[in-house]
Amino acid sequence: MERVKTGISGLDELIEGGFPAGRSILISGACGTGKTIMSMQYIYKGALEHNEPGVYVTLDERPHLIREDVLRFGWDLKSLEEKNMLNIIDGSIAKLGMPSEEEFSLPVTGYDVDKLLLEIMRVIKRIEAKRVVIDSIPALGFNFENPAEVRKAILKLSYMLMRSGVTSVLVSEIQEGVNKFGKYGVEEYVVDGVIVLHYMGVGTQSNRTMHIRKMRATKHSEDLHPLEIKSKEGAIVHKIEEEYDEL
Ligand SMILES: Nc1ncnc2c1ncn2[C@@H]1O[C@H](COP(=O)(O)OP(=O)(O)OP(=O)(O)O)[C@@H](O)[C@H]1O
Ligand SMILES: [Mg+2]
Repeated sequence: MERVKTGISGLDELIEGGFPAGRSILISGACGTGKTIMSMQYIYKGALEHNEPGVYVTLDERPHLIREDVLRFGWDLKSLEEKNMLNIIDGSIAKLGMPSEEEFSLPVTGYDVDKLLLEIMRVIKRIEAKRVVIDSIPALGFNFENPAEVRKAILKLSYMLMRSGVTSVLVSEIQEGVNKFGKYGVEEYVVDGVIVLHYMGVGTQSNRTMHIRKMRATKHSEDLHPLEIKSKEGAIVHKIEEEYDEL
């Protein structure tokens, strides 16, 4: 099976060389666990180091803030955007009926999942994207009152991504300590892989960890791995032994 390099240092070797090509992977975790950083790293490194154009769909954070934040890691999104190796689709404020200053965004005439899917397809074709991120799934379903509708939207999205041949990362939010991997109880089943991020935000020790909950067609690590977020580098996954070496 073909593998797609994740661009996240230390992760590929835990999953037989990378994400299974053409599949969808869910990155799940509570707030501040590093979901946005890891998923942007996947798109950024894919474009920069593997020459694979990527589309980042942001439904939570404003694009200009993401660009600014990741500059701390030395990631210059603008220059890749200018070369059409990376496009950001802004769905962050269309939901509020406000216009976006972005080149790719949703019309302000009411937020509509079908319109969003069409825009994603259009941009994928435009730059011949190989990688896509949807950040985040809960934001996608924000205006549905009925969970069945959200599930339908998620299924549609995952079908569309599969059909377009991209290898995608979906971001979802879960509460720490709750034995659930997606918010709507459907994301974790429609995807081919689930990576869970944890953060025990107390104390001075390294308290970020991650584990691979599933990765279809892959013999993957079953350990809880220390995760580090570092200026100039981004997210780094460690082996447990490395952590022991330091003690
Ligand atoms: N330059 C940096 N150096 C070290 N840690 C950083 C740096 N920048 C961000 N972080 C850490 O990463 C966290 C933010 O990560 P990120 O935005 O990816 O989380 P998230 O899981 O997407 O959160 P949310 O659910 O709020 O969207 C910050 O709270 C901080 O702890
Ligand atoms: Mg985020």
